[in-house]
Amino acid sequence: MSGEGPLRVAVLASGNGSNLQALIDGPHERGTIELVGVASDKPGATALERAGRAGVATSVFPRDDYADRTARDLAIAAWLEGLGVELVVLAGYMQLLSGEFIRSFSNRIVNVHPALLPSFAGLDAVGQAVAHGVRVTGVTVHFVDEGVDTGPILLQEAVELTYTRPMEAVMDEIHAVEHRLLPHAVELIAAGRVSIDPENPRLVRIEGA
Ligand code: GRF
Repeated sequence: MSGEGPLRVAVLASGNGSNLQALIDGPHERGTIELVGVASDKPGATALERAGRAGVATSVFPRDDYADRTARDLAIAAWLEGLGVELVVLAGYMQLLSGEFIRSFSNRIVNVHPALLPSFAGLDAVGQAVAHGVRVTGVTVHFVDEGVDTGPILLQEAVELTYTRPMEAVMDEIHAVEHRLLPHAVELIAAGRVSIDPENPRLVRIEGA
C-alpha cells in the first residue's frame, strides 16, 4: 500500500483520543507510519490537543458548517487527499461517513470497535455487552464498509467478563487492549502484510499470521 517512505496515516476522532495517542507513541514514534493529519467534527476534542502536541496537522469539520453529510465528507476527503493520506483510521469518530467518502478510500479505512463484532455493533458496545451478561467480549479492528461496524475483520482480541466486575474496570481493560491492537493492525497494513481475499471479500489475509 505504501509508496516511498512510511505509510501516510490520518486519524478521525471525536473525543479523548487515547487510541490516537497509542498511534502517536507507537508506530508514529517508531517511524513505521507517518501520522500526517488528525481531523475531528468536534472543535474542543482532546484528540486535537494530542495531535497538536505531537506536531501533527489538525482540522475541524463541524457538521453544522456544511449543507449535509456528503458536503462535509467531501471537504474531509479533499483535506486528506491534499495530505497524501494512504490510510484513514477511525478512532472514536462519532459520525457516520457518507458512501462517497467510503468508496473514495475503499479498503483504506479501519475502525476500532470495543466489542467482538458482529456482536454489539453501534453505540455503547461495552454497555451493551455488560447489560447482555456475556462472559467474553473484546476488541475488533476492521475495515470500514458502508454498514455500521460491518466491514471485514482484521484483528480481534477477547476480554473475559465476570459478573462482579465494575463497568469502569471493564472499560479500562478494553481500552488497554485497543491501545495494543490498533497500532498492531496499522503496522501490519504499513508493512504490506494485509490484503482482502479476492475469492471472499469478507476475509482478510494477514501474511505470516
Ligand atoms: C474507543 O473505545 C473505540 O473503540 C471507540 O471509541 C472509543 C474512543 O476512545 N470506537 P478514544 O477517544 O480513542 O480514547
